[in-house]
Amino acid sequence: MAPTFIGVGVGPGDPGLVTLKAVAVLRAADRVFGPTMASDAVGRAESIVSQVAPEVRVERLVFAILRDEAARGAAHEAAAEQVVACLEADERVAFVTLGDPNVYSTFHHLAALVCQRLPATVVETVPGIMAFQDVAARRGAPLLDGSERLHLVSAVDGPEVLDVPLADADAAVVIYKGGRHVPAIADRLERAGRLDDAVLGELLGLPGERVVPLKEAAGDPAAYLASVVVPPGRTTWGGRR
Ligand SMILES: C[S@@+](CC[C@H](N)C(=O)[O-])C[C@H]1O[C@@H](n2cnc3c(N)ncnc32)[C@H](O)[C@@H]1O
Repeated sequence: MAPTFIGVGVGPGDPGLVTLKAVAVLRAADRVFGPTMASDAVGRAESIVSQVAPEVRVERLVFAILRDEAARGAAHEAAAEQVVACLEADERVAFVTLGDPNVYSTFHHLAALVCQRLPATVVETVPGIMAFQDVAARRGAPLLDGSERLHLVSAVDGPEVLDVPLADADAAVVIYKGGRHVPAIADRLERAGRLDDAVLGELLGLPGERVVPLKEAAGDPAAYLASVVVPPGRTTWGGRR
């Protein structure tokens, strides 16, 4: 059988948001890996798995300090070696990741390195519920309708990336990786007239969680695990500003 490496999305944090398929695939895997910042630290995805399927053992792959490119590269290479060793031993290997494995996930970086070393590897993914869907669900109002659009942006390099999507009044804007830029993001939204309806979801499903109007949290940076949802510029459902 071809070596198979499967990225499994386990949702943003709430164990109730892990799909039945994810649990089944993890139970059927011979080996399950999960990312962590240090070998003695429980990773977020690992902690979700331990709540929904305590019998599944998650082995930690250490991914060093995210902002240090050299350390990150070395950590990915070492992790790929570990995965390849298991695939070469005919194991079915899964890797758990927050949210969905096809959206801003380490999984595909790792899978690419695995495929370089073992080109016969088949890469599969199991979709997961994403953080912004959890925030949208808690707003208590629909996010998109009719011809409205959704822009999902990463603000890791700063809030300037918001200018183009915010100019589209008929679009919802979801901002990922912008925790440390929250005050500047709020400022940008205010200038675009879009701050009032924006919601911040921080550490969803995890200790320290908060889901609040962004204007109430605009004064300070938030955690890395923070997502902002800006609905389209309508005042009421079915109506427009
Ligand atoms: C590397 S990306 C991972 C995205 C993930 N694969 C997904 O599909 O949601 C990290 C970003 O996802 C968002 N995120 C993931 N989990 C979250 C959580 N529990 N609470 C709030 N935001 C979260 C944040 O915007 C964070 O900066």
